[in-house]
Amino acid sequence: MKKIIAAAAALLVSGAGYAQGVEVLHWWTSGGEAAALNVLKGNLEKQGVKWNDMPVAGGGGEQAMTALRARVTAGNPPTAVQMLGFDITDWAKQGVLADLNAVAAKEGWDKTVPKALQAFSKHDGKWIAAPVNVHSTNWVWANKEVLDKAGVTKLPTNFDEFMDAAAKVQKAGFIALAHGGQPWQEATIFDGVVLATGGIDFYRKAFIQKDKAALGSDTMLKSFERMAALRKLVDKDFSNRDWNLAAAMVINGKAGFQIMGDWAKGEFLNAKKVPGKDFVCFRFPGTQGMVSFNSDQFAMFKVGGDKAAAQVKLASAIMDPGFQSAFNVVKGSVPARTDVPDTAFDDCGKKGMKDLAEANTKNTLVGSMAHGHAVPASIKNAFYDVITRHFNGQIDSKAAVKEMVAAASN
Ligand code: BGC
Repeated sequence: MKKIIAAAAALLVSGAGYAQGVEVLHWWTSGGEAAALNVLKGNLEKQGVKWNDMPVAGGGGEQAMTALRARVTAGNPPTAVQMLGFDITDWAKQGVLADLNAVAAKEGWDKTVPKALQAFSKHDGKWIAAPVNVHSTNWVWANKEVLDKAGVTKLPTNFDEFMDAAAKVQKAGFIALAHGGQPWQEATIFDGVVLATGGIDFYRKAFIQKDKAALGSDTMLKSFERMAALRKLVDKDFSNRDWNLAAAMVINGKAGFQIMGDWAKGEFLNAKKVPGKDFVCFRFPGTQGMVSFNSDQFAMFKVGGDKAAAQVKLASAIMDPGFQSAFNVVKGSVPARTDVPDTAFDDCGKKGMKDLAEANTKNTLVGSMAHGHAVPASIKNAFYDVITRHFNGQIDSKAAVKEMVAAASN
């Protein structure tokens, strides 16, 4: 009898049946993203927690957030939801998120999670989300062979040099800029362009403080003019292309550059490409020393008692230092804890960790507007709308500046 009970218990833990489960809503559906998510799934399943996957495709997570609203409205929220910045705060204000303070205190999260992230992981003194990574948007990804063939021997360090390098790539017969025409992707580029054009203080004034003088300034006008210049570097089929397909154009040597957050690195790695050899990563020219971050966090929803134990296991698994290293090595991001060594990371990852630490000390770390870490969704979406219509030639740069001022009041 004892033997049978032991066998049944082993079965429960080994996978044929699970004692506990978590339902997780996320938008990690590209090859690189799925590979990273598997690290987390595997980790939990080893602990006997079944993973009920709820993927909602769509880079940047807009579609996932729509799906989430429907679930919460129906009174049936998932256990955990991938979420960015102000969206977490918005849900916390609704009173629907769980209180993770017990596990956070036991594991000392207050001491190890950077304060810039805690601003979103905590609400009214309560931990409500577990941060899994820190991404940043001001990166460029380039195909090394394409650069060599085009005679680009030095990586650009300012916007004009970038335009010169792009012209060389075009001249050599390649697409200069691989881009997917979706509002969030254009906004991602805009993060870097505004940082490069106005610097850190201007970015803060415009995007964090929503200062009307900054939003309506000549610097903003110049930023839009630069967006118009970048628009000339993309191919004719860019409209509505997914970001990972744009990354594939650089991976396959069709295009020279992609301006994208470091989740793009996950695609290069998934295609077995090696940083420094097959591809290069560098900060958006003119933003060296600055970091516009976005952190994926798993917001935990209030769930019934039987599901709460598995939820705590999930939160604890996410915050485990070994997991944070293993996951972020694959994802392209860097750990959401300050005590994880960089030993397992490639050169781009090591640079990402160093840049983040330095930006944090020098006060050049800012939340990404494009990924919900500067302003709440209502204003972010209004900014998206202006940036995209401008990128598609529906309004000129002067009109775009005026509309940005108006959008900030949303
Ligand atoms: C998320 C990344 C994700 C990217 C593309 C970003 O908002 O932070 O984790 O890979 O969107 O889907």
